Amino acid sequence: MAKLAVNVDHVATVREARGIDVPDPVLAAGLAELAGADGIICHLREDRRHINDRDLRLLRETVKTRLNMEMAAVDEMVGIASSVKPDMVTLVPEKREELTTEGGLDVMARPDHYREVVERLHQAGIKVSFFIDPDPEQVDAARGCRGDIIEIHTGHYSEAQTEDEAKKRFGRVARAAQAASSMDLGVSAGHGLNYMNIKRFEALPLVEEYSIGHSIVAMAVLVGFDQAVRKMIDLVKSL
Ligand code: PXP
Repeated sequence: MAKLAVNVDHVATVREARGIDVPDPVLAAGLAELAGADGIICHLREDRRHINDRDLRLLRETVKTRLNMEMAAVDEMVGIASSVKPDMVTLVPEKREELTTEGGLDVMARPDHYREVVERLHQAGIKVSFFIDPDPEQVDAARGCRGDIIEIHTGHYSEAQTEDEAKKRFGRVARAAQAASSMDLGVSAGHGLNYMNIKRFEALPLVEEYSIGHSIVAMAVLVGFDQAVRKMIDLVKSL
């Protein structure tokens, strides 16, 4: 049965919009776990635009399921991860000017660098996932760099405007999932997934975990965090 990991970044985005201390992503993470989420995700960005160091530290102390820290593959973040010790790290590309993570990591472009980052994180006892576009060559590269898991970027799929486009883009996600699974890599998927477009993943049981943030936080504003997480869990568990 597929798992749901809830990304709490955008609870912190609402907090930062006012520059005060509520709503607290740490409390949201606790509620998500009480509702049945399998894991909690947060992205500590270089500019700390939503999640900050205090959040990460408290999440590490309080998350009972599994804490996945998204981060850029840079020295500062490798140092923080090695000391905070999330259960796993997801390496993502990061640009200051982007609104959200825009594309997958180009692992092929810097294999030596990523291999070294994976080695340092493994030494700290942390599993490593690569967030990549649905491209079999990137899957190969992630394997070559000794990643444990790949998270397939579903942003392109979720932005499809027509059924035909959605089918084609989903096909690419499916092929990348098959490639990863045949190499014994764990397979996750995320970005832009919502209560509607997740349903197509019924055709892809190879995906073991979904990483979902914005649509859950958007639903939570209207119906509450507990209900928003439970609704998504019902969908994910039925895939
Ligand atoms: N996976 C990764 C690697 C991400 O960077 C994000 C966005 O923070 C997500 C999943 C979740 O995307 P969304 O907020 O669109 O559900």
